[in-house]
Amino acid sequence: MPGAAPGAVPGAPPGRVREPIGAQVRAPRRAIWENRGMPATPTALAPAPAAPTPAQSGVGSLGSGALRIGPLSLDVPVVLAPMAGITNTAFRRLCREYGAGLYVSEMITSRALVERTPESMRLIRHHESETPRSIQLYGVDPATMREAVTMLVAEDRADHIDMNFGCPVPKVTRKGGGAALPWKLDLFRAIVENAVRAAGDVPVTVKMRKGIDADHLTYLEAGRIAEGAGVASVALHARTASEFYSGHADWDAIGTLKQTVTSVPVLGNGDIWSAEDALRMVEQTGCDGVVVGRGCLGKPWLFGDLAAAFRGEAREHGAQPSLGEVARAFRRHVELLVDFFDDENRACRDIRKHVAWYFKGYPIGGETRAALAMASSLAEFDELLGGLDHDAPYPGAEAEGPRGRAGTPKVPALPENWLDSRELREDHRLTLVDAELSTSGG
Ligand SMILES: Cc1cc2nc3c(=O)[nH]c(=O)nc-3n(C[C@H](O)[C@H](O)[C@H](O)COP(=O)(O)O)c2cc1C
Repeated sequence: MPGAAPGAVPGAPPGRVREPIGAQVRAPRRAIWENRGMPATPTALAPAPAAPTPAQSGVGSLGSGALRIGPLSLDVPVVLAPMAGITNTAFRRLCREYGAGLYVSEMITSRALVERTPESMRLIRHHESETPRSIQLYGVDPATMREAVTMLVAEDRADHIDMNFGCPVPKVTRKGGGAALPWKLDLFRAIVENAVRAAGDVPVTVKMRKGIDADHLTYLEAGRIAEGAGVASVALHARTASEFYSGHADWDAIGTLKQTVTSVPVLGNGDIWSAEDALRMVEQTGCDGVVVGRGCLGKPWLFGDLAAAFRGEAREHGAQPSLGEVARAFRRHVELLVDFFDDENRACRDIRKHVAWYFKGYPIGGETRAALAMASSLAEFDELLGGLDHDAPYPGAEAEGPRGRAGTPKVPALPENWLDSRELREDHRLTLVDAELSTSGG
């Protein structure tokens, strides 16, 4: 199970006075990677050139399977979901090497950014190959959000800013943050309006869940408010916070949102494990694009499949990499992590959470699996990867399907009396101050 990036959301430094929220209104035996200069995408996995288009319609669609988010034109309507602890510049670069679309950063808290904490400053960096540059912010205070967006824009650090309103983690929702926040319509509106105003020409988008639980849905009102505030698109992870990652995403809700929000693109998110799933979601819901999270864990080539599918290329099945190709992608990921952390040991520790995902279904043996999850240098990885049977073929169904977080439904943790009113009360403003301090994603 992946851990979220704990370092991604540092708290306020000691001594800082906290203001009430919203008060302002507002390769080894076989050297498989000796080819450092070669395109990292194994040819067999690389997307073929563009071809005609699948049925794709709706606001924001440019035809040819493309998507417009404000001034940005994406040649395929595919977004890498922000994932704390995962979608750092290393993983984004790797996914981009296979595919097309938009690749969103890990979530960064607006407060940490405004305070210019070293970790948040590191997380907002992009590699020069990353364009458009996309950053996801999380915040509970309109003024801090405005400051964070102003900073990103003034310093030319992003071409797209997404805002996260979907975190289901109890320690966040208990303070009124994450997926609990859109329940307070005035606060949600103020945050979104402030961000859009501060962003100027940089498109701002919203990512949310269906609501707190089945009896307290927020997504349709939030979608309308965000649309009215001038966002460039809205994305829905079609689960409630109480569902966490359990069961199945409710794609019908994506269809309902699409019918409700009519002037900007609606993106669907939840349980896309293959390119076929993505096309099916578009077909069933009418959504303008897809956001893909856990499905690409250990499978960056999924973005090649998605690009091919949305370009209408005839590919009956997705990439079916041999073990050698998987080993090469894994090695490339470690290499990019070394670049990102500028620290080989840290990179080798960070890749450990990805081992089970990359080698899911491949016959590498328990011992090698365990050794890969403990290796701490590139040389060790090279030794282990070089010892694998690179000709072992794609294992089929065993390598497919769900991966990553699942979890069980939970009673949502909320501030006392949170559900009593759709407007933010004074006592809840104070509770919210802590809601930004310990987030771990969506
Ligand atoms: C490890 C992990 C970290 C996540 N971090 C974030 C985050 O930082 N921001 C966010 O909006 N969603 C986050 N999410 C939620 C995903 O973006 C996505 O909405 C969710 O996984 C559902 O999509 P999927 O079924 O394609 O995985 C995270 C999910 C996972 C599994």
